[in-house]
Amino acid sequence: MFFGKRVPQAMNKTSSIAVFDSGMGGLTVLSRIIELLPHENTIYYADSANCPYGPKPQSLVRELVSAAVERLLTKDIKMVVIACNTASAAAVEHLRATYPIEFVAMEPAIKPAVLSTHTGTVGVIATKGTVESGTVARLKSKWSQAGVVSVAGEGLVELVEHDMEESRQARELVGQYMRKFIREGADKVVLGCTHYPFLRPLMEEALKGSGVEIIDPAPAIARRVKSLLERDGMLNDSDKEGTRIFDSSADEKYNTALEAKLKRYMRLIR
Ligand code: DGL
Repeated sequence: MFFGKRVPQAMNKTSSIAVFDSGMGGLTVLSRIIELLPHENTIYYADSANCPYGPKPQSLVRELVSAAVERLLTKDIKMVVIACNTASAAAVEHLRATYPIEFVAMEPAIKPAVLSTHTGTVGVIATKGTVESGTVARLKSKWSQAGVVSVAGEGLVELVEHDMEESRQARELVGQYMRKFIREGADKVVLGCTHYPFLRPLMEEALKGSGVEIIDPAPAIARRVKSLLERDGMLNDSDKEGTRIFDSSADEKYNTALEAKLKRYMRLIR
């Protein structure tokens, strides 16, 4: 339980940016933040003991995310990036109303997809929790000039958590989801779950020749982090590479795996 709205520690420019996800997915956002802001200190926290969030009821996800944020607020941090669409959809309003720190949240990038579609149909792939959330319903009705085909990418988070991005199973499942978007006439596919960019090579393989473009909002989220820190005069002006802390509700082995997975992903996007 978090008592009162106190400002965490004495927040300053050298305080860390906290990045949170249910598991390894948020690393696809952390990587973009490190690319853009290499001097910032970062703390990554994965609630891996409770991953996946996607199939869980929103009320439970809200409780889990609140507990994670309370843990992060005991550290020297200046911002929390909820690098998880499922957690953002379930909890961001509650978090903003409850805790005295800046939150950057994810939502499926339906807007840029709708504004750039030529076929009039866009696809969104996200967890069951996100697909069924009020966030996706709101975005669909706001951007109703295009058709939005949403697909729950069941099974994909588990494949990424088990480092199975190159497996036959992953290729088959990703192929199945991508073929649905092609059949429906979509020319954009929005990645509405931060785990999915790990599967982007397989998605590109399945979409080859179809002209369908993949939209990953992570680089835009990193730019948002930068502009908020700039606005508040909170950018770290050190010229040293930032420190990287990896923490989770699992064990030390998982924390080490997080670091290794981030390194691999940063090589993939370079
Ligand atoms: N990475 C998370 C997201 O963006 C969800 C993964 C999960 O189901 O826990 O939605």
